[in-house]
Amino acid sequence: MTLLDIMHASPVIPVIAIDRLEDAVPLAKALVAGGIRVLEVTLRTAHGLPAIRAIAEQVPGAIVGVGTLTQPEEFTAARDAGAVFGVSPGLTPALIDAARKSGLPLLPGVMTPSEVMGAREHGFRQLKLFPAVPAGGVGMLNAIAGPLGDVMFCPTGGISQETAGRFLACKNVACVGGSWLTPKEALAAGDWGTVEELARAAAGLRG
Ligand code: 3PG
Repeated sequence: MTLLDIMHASPVIPVIAIDRLEDAVPLAKALVAGGIRVLEVTLRTAHGLPAIRAIAEQVPGAIVGVGTLTQPEEFTAARDAGAVFGVSPGLTPALIDAARKSGLPLLPGVMTPSEVMGAREHGFRQLKLFPAVPAGGVGMLNAIAGPLGDVMFCPTGGISQETAGRFLACKNVACVGGSWLTPKEALAAGDWGTVEELARAAAGLRG
């Protein structure tokens, strides 16, 4: 599966932070049951890698990736845990090198036209606009669609169920990312029904 296939497999990629490892599998099952198969499990908590392993092994249909990649050594660790793609908030020479060496398809973060051009020079054509709303949101995406039209984005940061449709309508947007499918209160309560409902609403965003 290419990165673009993964981006087209889901209108929304939930950005997930796992506070209790035992939540990982039921949470992923709820998202998949609601129609959201592409899952970004971040390394913001110590449970990131074991959660990726548990989901990859125990949740049929899930396409699990690793998020918040900021250190080169995290690439092979995440790949070995079962991640099939990676997401980083930015892009550095060390991360470019680690992505190449690990073979893990990387969706790197950019925020300016020069950063888009820099990423493109290294062969990255699928990028995360981060943080999307502070970067200029839909106006920014439309403005760069002309001069930098060969790049597809996953805008992330400040997007909600209410605003996601406007982003998905941009011709250079393949999907959006966001944390609204996994509210902290629902996770704390083990309320997987709410997560499944949020996923079902998000899955319906692309008609
Ligand atoms: C993040 O940094 O947590 C992600 O970009 C998600 O942003 P959001 O919480 O605004 O959806």
